[in-house]
Amino acid sequence: MITGKICGTGSYVPPRVMDNDDMAKLVDTNDEWIRERTGIARRHIAKEETTSWMAGQAAARAVEQSGIAPEEIDMIIVATSSSETIYPCAACEVQKEIGAVNAVGYDLNAACTGFVLGFNTAQAYIQAGIYRTILVAGAESMSHMIDWTDRGTCILFGDGAGAVLLRAQEGTPVRMAAHSDGKKGPALTGLSRHRKDWDLEEEEKNAYIQMDGQGVFKFAVRKVPEIIEEILEQSNVSLEEINYFILHQANRRIIEAVAKRLKTDISRFPMNLEEYANTSAATVPILLDEMNRKGMFKEGQKLIMAGFGAGLTWAGCLFEW
Ligand code: ACO
Repeated sequence: MITGKICGTGSYVPPRVMDNDDMAKLVDTNDEWIRERTGIARRHIAKEETTSWMAGQAAARAVEQSGIAPEEIDMIIVATSSSETIYPCAACEVQKEIGAVNAVGYDLNAACTGFVLGFNTAQAYIQAGIYRTILVAGAESMSHMIDWTDRGTCILFGDGAGAVLLRAQEGTPVRMAAHSDGKKGPALTGLSRHRKDWDLEEEEKNAYIQMDGQGVFKFAVRKVPEIIEEILEQSNVSLEEINYFILHQANRRIIEAVAKRLKTDISRFPMNLEEYANTSAATVPILLDEMNRKGMFKEGQKLIMAGFGAGLTWAGCLFEW
């Protein structure tokens, strides 16, 4: 069977760092509260970098590592909900940046679930034999989407980008699952501009991320274990066979609760949210790149990725390194 193997990973995070003490200068919060409730210590915040530029940097690093010529890339998918322009899409900017002249590019918006859905979409194209080489990136400038006076949300997010390059090879097909629950959309909303029927006050209120924190927490700790079990069941693979569970890095307590529900040791749930906070669609590919560059992956290892977020949406996949 043909499947898309990861043959290069890359990431970019802005050098500008804001730690929890910096946040305490902006809103009524403190390092202890943020660490205890979220596990976050710092976040990287873009200065001049744009979302598509950061995606381009991450993509260039993935392509360089793969040794594959940019001209061989057939498709570029950028998962983002915070690109600096609606069009041109970030994927076309990435195409220009890396010289992938033969690729078609488009963006995919599914908030924090975006990268995993982009990865699954790319696998579907490859496993169907339509394309051979696909670059998937997740890139976000969350700092533009948050109300910096709202302590309930501004402490949670950071900026950055990650990317993987997939190449068609013989192997075990990727198993995937994905769901949405549009009725729960109001639990997490962002940048609802351009509604002509709203007055200005309403528009201002809706301009930034608003979140029912506890609602999102409960959703994540229930739905992530469920989708992991769904994928394992359809793949006929046991929980014990999975080397790592690479989850969206929203909150340490969510990841710990998922591990507990699955009765699995937390050491199989790598985390880097202490350093980068929640970079939405970029968390999973940044973590993948870090683990890859540390040499944590070996051929044949079984990995599960899972994302969850606004929509509400949640998605996952099982693949072999
Ligand atoms: N610093 C200090 N105090 C704070 C802060 C802060 N930054 N934010 C809220 N508080 C206060 C509240 O005002 C409240 O005070 P009160 O008791 O006097 O009313 C108290 O802390 C408790 O507030 P809660 O909202 O109940 O705190 P909770 O324990 O639920 O933690 C959090 C909030 C961290 C947002 C949690 O609900 C959570 O992790 N939710 C998951 C949401 C998430 O991760 N979203 C990310 C985006 S979505 C995604 O990526 C999928």
